[in-house]
Amino acid sequence: MKKYYVIGNPIEHSLSPQIHNYWMKKYQLGDSNYEKKNVEKKDLKQIVEDIRNDKIVGVNVTVPFKKLIIPYLDEMDKVAEVTQSVNTLHKVKNKVIGYNTDSLGFLKTITNYYGLTNTQINMNPTKRDFFILGAGGVTSSIVDSLQYIIGKSQGMIWVSNRTKKNADQLKKLFPKIELIEWGKKPPVFCDIIINTTSVGLKKNDNLNIDLNVDKRTLFYDLIYNPKETNFLKDARLRGNKTMNGQMMFLNQAKIAFNTWTGISPEIDDEVIKILDND
Ligand code: ATR
Repeated sequence: MKKYYVIGNPIEHSLSPQIHNYWMKKYQLGDSNYEKKNVEKKDLKQIVEDIRNDKIVGVNVTVPFKKLIIPYLDEMDKVAEVTQSVNTLHKVKNKVIGYNTDSLGFLKTITNYYGLTNTQINMNPTKRDFFILGAGGVTSSIVDSLQYIIGKSQGMIWVSNRTKKNADQLKKLFPKIELIEWGKKPPVFCDIIINTTSVGLKKNDNLNIDLNVDKRTLFYDLIYNPKETNFLKDARLRGNKTMNGQMMFLNQAKIAFNTWTGISPEIDDEVIKILDND
């Protein structure tokens, strides 16, 4: 049996097993199985060892281990290196490699929104400004893909986080970002405002900051469960376009699946239904 896991803590709510097992069945990988595993920090070394010894073929890493896993890896791909965030593990030529598919998953989602391909958007960038809320574990992946979208244009990434020192940490990785005080808005029109905070995971969570902006701004929430956070609901009621994290989640899963199996799985209606029905 080829074993795959998603590791995290807590992990109960992860929908990754349903997605990957659906694809494994669809693409007739009958010898493969994907499960969730609640782990502690002390277990990380052994998990990497199990990949090295072929006991496990592939792993997805989620909160709070995306950075903590790094010391145990042999190598990282470029995006993982830049973002210091790893969400996918796989062995290649006897080395356990950490990949970041969150950044590419978000990039794919946003380029689809603009109706462009990844290459088109980077080669011919329109000047766009983006506003990110939060500076947690996943934020570096979002900054990485937005920097790619901005390319050589004069666009800017504005970041605001409740705790300034966490925003300062992010700026060390990405010196070009512009930090703003929590509760303030960028002084320019932003194409997209992205919520990368954990606020909204509980149905009644509220950011409690003024986000009343131009109606052409898209409000994007990385959270996909619940489907409509208050961040998105309030924006919709003000007349803005909104999008939740569903497609980013599916796109990062698709890229991870491809890394392990060489198969690029289709994001079909069935797989979308898995998320919708939860
Ligand atoms: P990580 O993803 O690294 O595990 P987290 O604790 O899940 O971190 O927090 C993710 C983000 O949500 C952080 O930007 C955090 O802001 P702080 O750096 O100020 O902690 C943000 N966050 C969590 N609760 C929040 C709240 N009630 N209001 C505003 N931001 C909040």
